[in-house]
Amino acid sequence: MTQPKTGRILSGVQPSGKLHLGNYFGAVRQHIALQDEAPSFYFIADYHALTTVHDPAVLRQYTLDVALDYLALGLDPAKAVFFRQSDVPEVCELTWILSTVTNMGLLERAVSYKEKVEKGIDASVGLFTYPVLMASDILIYRSNLVPVGKDQVQHLEMTQDMAARFNHRFGQVFPIPDVRLDKESKVLGTDGQKMSKSYGNTIDIFAEGKPLQKVVMAIQTDSTAVEAPKDPTKCNVFALYSLFANEEEKAALAARYRAGGMGYGEAKKLLLEKINGFFGPARERRKELAANLEYVEGVLKEGAQRARAEAQATMALVRKAVGMKERSVV
Ligand code: TRP
Repeated sequence: MTQPKTGRILSGVQPSGKLHLGNYFGAVRQHIALQDEAPSFYFIADYHALTTVHDPAVLRQYTLDVALDYLALGLDPAKAVFFRQSDVPEVCELTWILSTVTNMGLLERAVSYKEKVEKGIDASVGLFTYPVLMASDILIYRSNLVPVGKDQVQHLEMTQDMAARFNHRFGQVFPIPDVRLDKESKVLGTDGQKMSKSYGNTIDIFAEGKPLQKVVMAIQTDSTAVEAPKDPTKCNVFALYSLFANEEEKAALAARYRAGGMGYGEAKKLLLEKINGFFGPARERRKELAANLEYVEGVLKEGAQRARAEAQATMALVRKAVGMKERSVV
C-alpha cells in the first residue's frame, strides 16, 4: 500500500439496483481511484437499505449487485477493505451510544429525511436515525476522509457534530472526519435532465447488446436536419460522448457536427461504440464474478474480518470512555 496522504478513507454504498453512467462518473470511479491513494474502506450499506428495501429477495439481489459491480469495475480487495455493513454488528452498538450524544433538533433538521418522507418512504424511526447509523459507520473505523456526493454533506456535518460531542463528553476517541465532495458529475440522462433512476432516463453500465442500443438510439435530440450544421455544445449525445473520448476525438466529432452532413444517429453510434469499448472489459469481468460467487463471498468475508477487528478495537475505547466494562463474554 502506498504511503497514506489523507489518512483513512471510507465510504458506504446503498444497494439500490443497477448502476448507471451517472453513478459511475459521479462516484464509483472516484471511489475506486482512491484505493491507490490511502487505506480505504468501502462497504455495502445493507442496514441502511432496510429503511427503503422491504423485500428480502430484493435486498439480497441488490447487495450482491453492489459487490459484483464494484469488483468488476476495479475495486481491488488487495488494496481496499470491502465488506457488508451488517457483517460488523458493532456498528449498531455504536449507533446507540452516539444517539445519546445526538440532539433531536440536529436530526430534525435533516433535509434528506424530509425529502424521503415527501417521496412517500415510510417515516420509520430507522429512517429518522439514519444519520446516526451513518456517523457510526464513519467513526467506528476512525475514518479521516469520506468521499460522498453533495446530497450527503449534511450527514457528514452531523457526523462531525456527533464526534465532537462524544469527544467533549467522554474524552478524545474519534478523529473528526473530513468530507471529500465527489466531483459534481454533469451526466445528463437520455432526456437531457440529470441522469437519475427516478427520472427513468438512465443508461445502465452493465446493459449491453440490443437493450443498450435501444436506449442510446432513443437519446433525445433536436430536429436539425442531417445536412444542417449542428452545435455540439447543445447536444446531449456529444456531452455523453465527451465522458469517454480524449481531446482529439472530441475535437474531431465537434468538427463533424459543425460541418453539417452528419445526423444525430451517427453520433449515437459513435457513442455506443465508446460505451461498449469502455465498459466491455468490466462486463466480462462481472460475468466471471457472477459465475464464481464463492470468490465474491470470500472477498466480503475477508473484508468483514478486517473491518470487524478495527470496529472492535474502537468499541473497546468507546466502552471504556463511557464507563462500561470490557465485554466479558465474546
Ligand atoms: N447514505 C449514503 C448514501 O446514500 C450511504 C452511506 C451509508 C454512507 N453509510 C455511509 C456514505 C458512510 C459514506 C459514509 O449514499
